[in-house]
Amino acid sequence: MRIFRELDFGQASESSILEEENRIRSKLAAVRAVVAFGSARGGVGKSALLVNIAAALALSGRKIAIVDADLNSPSIAPMLGVKTGRHAFMGDEIEPATGPLGLRLVSSDFLPQGEPPASFIDIDEISTVPQNGAHPNEFGYLAALRRLLGQSRFGPLDLVLVDLAPGIEHIYRLLKIVPRAKLLLASHPSELSARATRAAIGVGAQHPDAVIGVVENMAGFNCDGCHRVRPLMPYGSLAMHARETGVPLLERLPFDPRFAETCERGVFFIREYPQTPMGKQLVALAQAIDKAAESDPRVAASASS
Ligand SMILES: Nc1ncnc2c1ncn2[C@@H]1O[C@H](COP(=O)(O)OP(=O)(O)OP(=O)(O)O)[C@@H](O)[C@H]1O
Ligand SMILES: [Mg+2]
Repeated sequence: MRIFRELDFGQASESSILEEENRIRSKLAAVRAVVAFGSARGGVGKSALLVNIAAALALSGRKIAIVDADLNSPSIAPMLGVKTGRHAFMGDEIEPATGPLGLRLVSSDFLPQGEPPASFIDIDEISTVPQNGAHPNEFGYLAALRRLLGQSRFGPLDLVLVDLAPGIEHIYRLLKIVPRAKLLLASHPSELSARATRAAIGVGAQHPDAVIGVVENMAGFNCDGCHRVRPLMPYGSLAMHARETGVPLLERLPFDPRFAETCERGVFFIREYPQTPMGKQLVALAQAIDKAAESDPRVAASASS
């Protein structure tokens, strides 16, 4: 697969990085907004929420592409029910795969069959050629992400949704590569997760108006026995952190086993269970994201530059 094979193992020069970042800007020039889904901690539901929000936006007529930026552990293709190996390569460019509802997808999952798995080690730039015995396909994560964004033919779109790997460092890096990106943060209700999310808000807030809001996921479950919504884990202070940082807490989503089940099946919860509380909340969340992206003064500025 060209994009990963051709990565330069040498130290990337300042000018080549600038060139690549210009390329990313031009590839995203006809995209109204880029929204990254991030989290300080793993497994909070970013990817599962993203595919359903993408579906809700597509159903409302928006043109959406998804970039699975969790390069080492991509999950969007199976959640969309998209078979791998459907990228079209055109010279130096990647034509994103097309999934259900016309959703476009760029993912490291599309390595051709039979390729050894690639891994993307977590350093900014690789400065040395891998020594004997090193994994043959280990590349710099940031370099790989720059290439992925800079080679994809996004074309005119309303939104590009970026699914980040967990961790504040990935939020920092994405905003470095795409400074105009907006950020949605997902968190568990627990105190530990809420506190880590506050730190992530701090990173996002270095870019004025970047943080759209936070979402508390798995905030209670419907008890079959008593028919009440009960806490799933100790309630923490996400609402307090959000308030203190001036970031909206957009939704508190319940735990719903059907949500996990639809993700495993590669179908959309919002289509299978549109009348459930969570189905309605996800649609409302999609609308809030759409609105926040629209009202971003930085987007207009970057589109005209
Ligand atoms: N509200 C929910 N109710 C039930 N299951 C959920 C809910 N939210 C997420 N899940 C399930 O939890 C699991 C983890 O979700 P997901 O992979 O989206 O998390 P993530 O934040 O993207 O993880 P990672 O940080 O590893 O990328 C999945 O099986 C998903 O279907
Ligand atoms: Mg994920």
